[in-house]
Amino acid sequence: MHLENHLDDDTNLHTHGLHVSPDGVGDNVFARVSPGQSRTYVYEIPLDHRSGIFWYHPHAHGTVAKQVAAGLAGAIVITDQLDELPEIASSTERIWILADPPIGDGPDIFGAGPMERMVGREGTTILVNGIELPDVASEAGTLERWRLLNASSSRYYRLALDGHELHVIASDGGRLSEPVAVDEILLAPGERVEVLVTPSAAGTFVFRTLRYDRGSTGMSGGMMGGSAFDGDEVVLATLTITGEREPGNLPESLLQPDDLTLLTPVASRVLELGMGMGGGMMSSGTGEMMSFTIDGKTFDPDRTDISPAAGTVEEWQIVNTSPMDHPLHLHVWPFLLADERAGAGWKDTVNVPAGQSVRILVPFTGLIGRTVYHCHILDHEDLGMMGVIDVSG
Ligand code: C2O
Ligand code: CU
Ligand code: CU
Repeated sequence: MHLENHLDDDTNLHTHGLHVSPDGVGDNVFARVSPGQSRTYVYEIPLDHRSGIFWYHPHAHGTVAKQVAAGLAGAIVITDQLDELPEIASSTERIWILADPPIGDGPDIFGAGPMERMVGREGTTILVNGIELPDVASEAGTLERWRLLNASSSRYYRLALDGHELHVIASDGGRLSEPVAVDEILLAPGERVEVLVTPSAAGTFVFRTLRYDRGSTGMSGGMMGGSAFDGDEVVLATLTITGEREPGNLPESLLQPDDLTLLTPVASRVLELGMGMGGGMMSSGTGEMMSFTIDGKTFDPDRTDISPAAGTVEEWQIVNTSPMDHPLHLHVWPFLLADERAGAGWKDTVNVPAGQSVRILVPFTGLIGRTVYHCHILDHEDLGMMGVIDVSG
């Protein structure tokens, strides 16, 4: 993959969710590409890589939120035998990239003020694959397979489709063992989910997101998450179904799940997501900037924060002591939610609600290398809510 930087800022490329080497010419987020420069990335995708929807976006610390919010993101799909199951193979496959770029014509439309950066910038319009309010045409009796990606830099989505259940078949890192029917899906920045939809009756149905309260900075009482929301919901798209037919058959199982019983942690650690006053991140007209930390520290590319031993399984307790939600993302090594194991599937990004904690199991298998974990509200990552992990043998 050859990247040429035609921007005025540094940039680079990250393959979010892929289990590929983070070193050298691989998925190396420490390498920066300056304006006018280029870089060639080489990704060796293991033959047994799990199938699913992954994505790519820039990752040059300090410019990430702006560049992703401006639209630099795309989907990567990896297929395997799952895609050959008869029901899945004959389904109508669609990718939904959800984003809320700034739209308008101000002089610095891609900028964000200190307060916006602290809460995490949100645009005023939500686009699906770059289109506002698309209408999707479908036929009763068919099976729709939707791969959904939250490529917004800060916005959370609570997704629902009028008159239809969503049958979840995969999460961030690949398939579940069987479809799980839900009415609503919470998708934090960076997360993906795959669902099957079974159109059966003619009509036009609304695909919507509901307001999600992700907390506040605790400063000046500023709540957020409201910019695109006049009321409680925003319509993302409409699904127009023609014909009347029995719903298509769902696959009963989705091939063998991984053997999760082998995952016995040999080490455990606690990660603390925190927000504090000050921190000297930047000064601004509106006063002091808040600091965004993991274990009390802001990002330093020259410091290594965590060094798990290659081949081991660790249990992490991610504790959020702040008044806002933060979606924690770990590069390269997918993990399971310790309390839900198979139910939630393999993940690489997990929302840690304000004041709560989440436990995950991470097998450091297959690859070694040095990379990062961070909050996927990308303004928080740019403000320093990121740590360095080095897995060696
Ligand atoms: Cu979506 Cu560190 O990445
Ligand atoms: Cu990533
Ligand atoms: Cu955050």
